[in-house]
Amino acid sequence: MYESSYVLETPINYRKKYGQFFTPSLVASIMAKWVTENHPKKILDPAFGLGIFYEEISKLNLQYQWHFTAYEIDTNLLNYLDNFQKNNHFTLVNQDYLKSDINYYDAIICNPPYLRFQKFIDRHDILPKIEQQIGKKLGGYSNIASIFLIKALQQLNRNGRLAFILPFEFFNTGYGKEIKKTLIENNLLKQIVIFANEKDIFPDATTTICILLCQNDQIKQDIKITNINNTQDIKEIANISNYYHHQLTHNKLPYQKKWTPIILSLLSDQKIPEGFCKLLEYGTFKRGIATGANDFFALNKSKIEQLQLNDNNLCLCITKSNLIKTAIFTDNDLELLIKQDKSIYCLDVKDINNEAILNYLKIGEEKGYDERYLTKNRQPWYKLEKREPAPILFGVFNRGRLKVIRNFTKAINFTCYHGFYPNIFGINMIDKLFIYLISDIGQDVIKMNKRSYGNNLDKFEPGDLNNSYCPNIKQFNTMNEQQVNQIIEIAKIDEKEAILLSNKLIKQIISK
Ligand SMILES: C[S@@+](CC[C@H](N)C(=O)[O-])C[C@H]1O[C@@H](n2cnc3c(N)ncnc32)[C@H](O)[C@@H]1O
Repeated sequence: MYESSYVLETPINYRKKYGQFFTPSLVASIMAKWVTENHPKKILDPAFGLGIFYEEISKLNLQYQWHFTAYEIDTNLLNYLDNFQKNNHFTLVNQDYLKSDINYYDAIICNPPYLRFQKFIDRHDILPKIEQQIGKKLGGYSNIASIFLIKALQQLNRNGRLAFILPFEFFNTGYGKEIKKTLIENNLLKQIVIFANEKDIFPDATTTICILLCQNDQIKQDIKITNINNTQDIKEIANISNYYHHQLTHNKLPYQKKWTPIILSLLSDQKIPEGFCKLLEYGTFKRGIATGANDFFALNKSKIEQLQLNDNNLCLCITKSNLIKTAIFTDNDLELLIKQDKSIYCLDVKDINNEAILNYLKIGEEKGYDERYLTKNRQPWYKLEKREPAPILFGVFNRGRLKVIRNFTKAINFTCYHGFYPNIFGINMIDKLFIYLISDIGQDVIKMNKRSYGNNLDKFEPGDLNNSYCPNIKQFNTMNEQQVNQIIEIAKIDEKEAILLSNKLIKQIISK
């Protein structure tokens, strides 16, 4: 109701500081219906924002006495709300929820701020207080949303219901483990609702969103998994408890394991083929070089000539994702990019006794590049992270097919790509791994570990790739070397054909 004027008038950085991202009314309505099904008298919203949950619950016209308590830390935001306070079944507390005393509620409904704990100024005062309130140590919790959830679960009355919005990736994090344990062992978790095509539903979200539905009834029930693909799906839901696609027994969701691949494998037709092992067995993906000032570090031939920089202070580097357009990247491709005057070099200062380099560093300092977040923490500020050229590159952001490149050059790479660094088992498997990664099966299996950024944009962290699955050594060893070489040659000129051949080869080794 107030959202459009607030969002229009408030800078994005301000909203980010408080984790202000608002729940669309269709989603809030599902949550409101669910938490009020058991006629709760005392309802809590720990992160009120512009009050969408209160609004949706009010619309339900509950035919009994109920009271809604809400916390909101941001006074500025509250100035946008005018007539809430006048209502006698509503208390809005302009205070930090994490500092509040423990009271008990029959229903809790929340979209918590998703903020790194380090960004939270009062954390040193708050943590001990909450630890005392809930009787548990909270070490290692790196996101405020998880503390909101822990505290809220503590405040839930017997039989009370809780509906919480969280990023889906929360189920993969280290700090999520303890919460998952609590949710499962205390029989709290009843349903997980995942929004697959979230741009449609959550226009502002930068990651896949899900809702946790919990009830403190101590009844052990299978956990329902719901997948919502578009706004139309939501409109058709009368009661979310009856709308689900899968049911999982508790032992199918071990708290020590990442839940995202488990749940996604249910939702997609893709299963991990038998015998597959973790990609980690062959080596590790690492993120590319983070310079902290790409404008300064990335250089093209003409700028290098103009600055008179010598080869000692440069290295070959893929500085942007779109510099590579083909699945195989060779020295010829690199030569062509140099001729086209693309930024294919990176400043890599090794010879400081040189006037040209001293001049360029001085220009950098005058422009404040030495004071950037990353550079100011380096000694000296222009020191480059150490990376060898990686034989396989993987696009960090992907739309549709995942960008996988077999790199035959000596170029290192910036953060636009993750680079694969083989171990002794992987060193002879590079071409085979590449063929697997470009095949349809490989792409589908790897995508099970993606982090969806909305609008079909998928992001991968190096860990997501390292923990994804691929054929084991025995399976790879059954691949015909000649066919492997042939596919690599074909990929240089015809990527589509190379994918078709890779599909065949991978299917063969799986069926063996
Ligand atoms: C993700 S928004 C959700 C707002 C609203 N409930 C909704 O769903 O549209 C989180 C809200 O919590 C507020 N907030 C952030 N930290 C808080 C804290 N420690 N205590 C209470 N509210 C907080 C933010 O200002 C923001 O309005």
